[in-house]
Amino acid sequence: MNRSQHAIGPLACVVGARPNYMKMAPLVRAFAVQAGLPVVALVHTGQHYDVEMNERLFADLGLPVPALNLEVGSATHAVQTAEIMRRFEPVLDDMSPSCVIVVGDVNSTLACSLVAAKKGVPIVHVEAGLRSFDRTMPEEINRILTDQLAQRLYTTERTAADNLAREGVARERIRFVGNVMIDSLLTHRPRAIRPEETLERAGIPADFVDTKQGFGVVTLHRPSNVDDQAALRECLALLGEVSMHLPLIWPAHPRTSANIARFGMASMLASKRIAFLPPQGYLEMLGLLAGARLVITDSGGIQEETTALGVPCLTIRENTERPITIEQGTNTLVGRDRSRAVACVVDIMNGGGKRGRTPELWDGHAAERIAQDLAGWLGIADAGLEAGYA
Ligand code: UD1
Repeated sequence: MNRSQHAIGPLACVVGARPNYMKMAPLVRAFAVQAGLPVVALVHTGQHYDVEMNERLFADLGLPVPALNLEVGSATHAVQTAEIMRRFEPVLDDMSPSCVIVVGDVNSTLACSLVAAKKGVPIVHVEAGLRSFDRTMPEEINRILTDQLAQRLYTTERTAADNLAREGVARERIRFVGNVMIDSLLTHRPRAIRPEETLERAGIPADFVDTKQGFGVVTLHRPSNVDDQAALRECLALLGEVSMHLPLIWPAHPRTSANIARFGMASMLASKRIAFLPPQGYLEMLGLLAGARLVITDSGGIQEETTALGVPCLTIRENTERPITIEQGTNTLVGRDRSRAVACVVDIMNGGGKRGRTPELWDGHAAERIAQDLAGWLGIADAGLEAGYA
């Protein structure tokens, strides 16, 4: 692939949903300063569209306005994926990019990869090789298939390369670079908004946070936890019990708020020490996570962010595609097991809990390594990352 800088098309960088933005922002910045790389064309599929889920995060992260927005919106998985494909195909034809860069595991990641693969456009997958080994998760299907289609695969932890090798992905396609999500966290941490300010803006009285105990932060949005009535009831019961030990701040995903209302479960939260907030900006969220005594979540990204921040994390799932957060970080899987969760909370409140350490290459420079490697791989710079990074 030895093409001159001028002969090759832009880097088509795809984002669609909230967790994509903090991964793409450091990449866009690193691509802009890497000698010789083509320009970035940021494409938003419009999978997430609410101001809180979208525009505020773009502003917080310093992401440029997308070159275009496919405005697909919400639908069933099949319809959403198909619609992204239908709208992305003519974009690729017009743009003739040198490659398509996708991050993470959302429907937009897979949909755009499928289109690029059929058009013979090289695909670069950032955050490749993570596996929960749970194919009931839509994200697991997206991960497996995207990795099969990608030509260059960048990983966040070393076990990812073993997962990929087991699925027949050639080792020479894989580069271990670290975690771009942690690049964003380290860049923006100094600008994080204080939790007191976030609560005040949401109209929550200042004395909600116990000065001695502090507070916990909750996020929940996995379909397996919030779409099923019985599962959601178990989650709310668990949180209700935890809130007797520690006040909880819960910025709720629209899917979760809608289901709590639909199933008539709002009363389960009414008398508890739980502050229900709308989805927050990146800087508000960073302030809440960094200031929390502990975090309860089913998010993939937050398992990593809490590990990087050294804050104990209880994950309401039976598995994780990010095992390093358990082995080296602060993460513990508790499922929806109320007594297990409460025991962990009590342990943390008594000064216990996992402290963890920062995983290898989660150092704030993953995007730079990717930019350097990409320039080599596209035939623009002399060399990409050495084999030692594979
Ligand atoms: C998606 C990703 C998930 C990621 C999550 C982060 C897939 C399969 N899932 O899940 O991996 O962790 O984003 O948030 O791609 N909605 C709004 N406003 C929006 C977007 C969504 O109200 O801006 C509501 C709609 O009711 C929609 C529901 O949320 O039906 C689900 O949205 P969708 O994009 O399908 O999936 P998420 O649950 O957000």
